[in-house]
Amino acid sequence: MEKFSAKALPIAADLKAFIKEHGDKKLGEYTIAQTYQGMKGIVGLVTETSKLDPEEGIRFRGYSIPELREKLPKAPKGFEPLPEGIFYLMLMGELPTKEDVMNVSNSWARRAIVPKHVFDTLDHLPKNTHPMTMLSIGVMALQTESEFAKAYQKGINKKNYWEYVYEDAMTLIARLPRVAAYIYRKKYHNDHHIEPNPKLDWAANFAHMLGYETLDVRRLMRLYLTIHADHEGGNVSAHTTHLVGSALSDPYLSFAAGLNGLAGPLHGLANQEVINWIIEMQKQIGKELPTKDEIATYIKKTLEDGKVVPGYGHAVLRKTDPRFSAQQDFYKRYIKQDNMCDIVAMIYEVAPPILEGTGKIKNPWPNVDAHSGALLMHYGIKEFEYYTVLFGVSRALGVMASLIWDRVLGLPIERPGSITIAGLKKKVGVAV
Ligand SMILES: CC(C)(COP(=O)(O)OP(=O)(O)OC[C@H]1O[C@@H](n2cnc3c(N)ncnc32)[C@H](O)[C@@H]1OP(=O)(O)O)[C@@H](O)C(=O)NCCC(=O)NCCS
Repeated sequence: MEKFSAKALPIAADLKAFIKEHGDKKLGEYTIAQTYQGMKGIVGLVTETSKLDPEEGIRFRGYSIPELREKLPKAPKGFEPLPEGIFYLMLMGELPTKEDVMNVSNSWARRAIVPKHVFDTLDHLPKNTHPMTMLSIGVMALQTESEFAKAYQKGINKKNYWEYVYEDAMTLIARLPRVAAYIYRKKYHNDHHIEPNPKLDWAANFAHMLGYETLDVRRLMRLYLTIHADHEGGNVSAHTTHLVGSALSDPYLSFAAGLNGLAGPLHGLANQEVINWIIEMQKQIGKELPTKDEIATYIKKTLEDGKVVPGYGHAVLRKTDPRFSAQQDFYKRYIKQDNMCDIVAMIYEVAPPILEGTGKIKNPWPNVDAHSGALLMHYGIKEFEYYTVLFGVSRALGVMASLIWDRVLGLPIERPGSITIAGLKKKVGVAV
């Protein structure tokens, strides 16, 4: 925490002075269509952890995914980066050393004990509760432990908010895999739970608690939890966490809100939808490995039925998502042959021209969700209804790092203006 404050406090002071001097300068103009169509392209947030380029994809503190796979510290015998490293990078703005990563790992291992009432709460939910609903409720149950909420009740100086948010963010990240694994084992393994192993890194321990011990699943989990961590500030889960946090709701309340956004099919739930859609395709065609022509027909039918092709399109990206490419690379490197992954590759060949042909889809290329499920299926993690929970565990890294920055920068409550349809028409002189 001392290292972070030494870095962050001067930046916060500099920002204050910068806004004082340049706060009245224009950042851009926007149109009526932008206001109506989800505020796309309107810059309304300051987010330090990562930045998305429409053509190139995500960069975390300036580093692309291929660069991070090369530069971030790895576990022994590991090729994939440790997610502890990307958290450090997002928080500190600099690449971690092996020792920095060990410190984060140890800090999370020390904080990882989940209070019993969280498990009791999950045990009382109806059996058919969706795993994402369970995760959100699990995080809400963890909220009893919020240091920020307690300190605020007692009364603290604004200048110190970030210290308690830092504590909560670290503890939340530390406990999240245990809660997520509990949900998995409860739902799909008859409540046979696996105790954490504090000697393992965060991702390997998560794989262990889920019940997967092979080196390849550890590798996949490290990659998965790294590449899903952040996608700049405006996506639904990041923006929601930031927005709710701006009301000084504590990190648990803020993150649970973000998770509820991630659970939407146009956002994080798309990873479950992709596998659902592929399995349905296999059933309808009657083959485990359909041909490209058969896949093309199925895609066209999906569009004719007024449904989205899951895993394709993006609100900002205009090229193949580098997170998709990293997973393709993982497939080629470690798996080499798998029918589901081959179907994903064939969809990548046939879907873009069909989507482009509609004339309205702005990005015909695959996003992160187009590939992730196929890799998990290969290793026997077949309960696709659970996949968004894995996304949620990873997303905590980015949004919690951002929330710490929000408080250290002293960002105020978020409150954009709104307008009525009649108000819009009046603006341009159209009779109401
Ligand atoms: C991600 C997504 C929500 C972005 O939405 P957006 O910014 O509104 O996208 P666009 O501006 O390209 O949308 C223009 C039109 O194309 C449609 N479209 C976009 N992607 C589509 C897809 N994959 N399949 C079918 N139609 C799609 C939109 O629904 C919209 O249709 P409408 O004008 O009839 O309402 C959208 O591409 C989508 O629904 N993709 C599938 C779900 C998915 O993979 N989500 C995960 C994202 S990481």
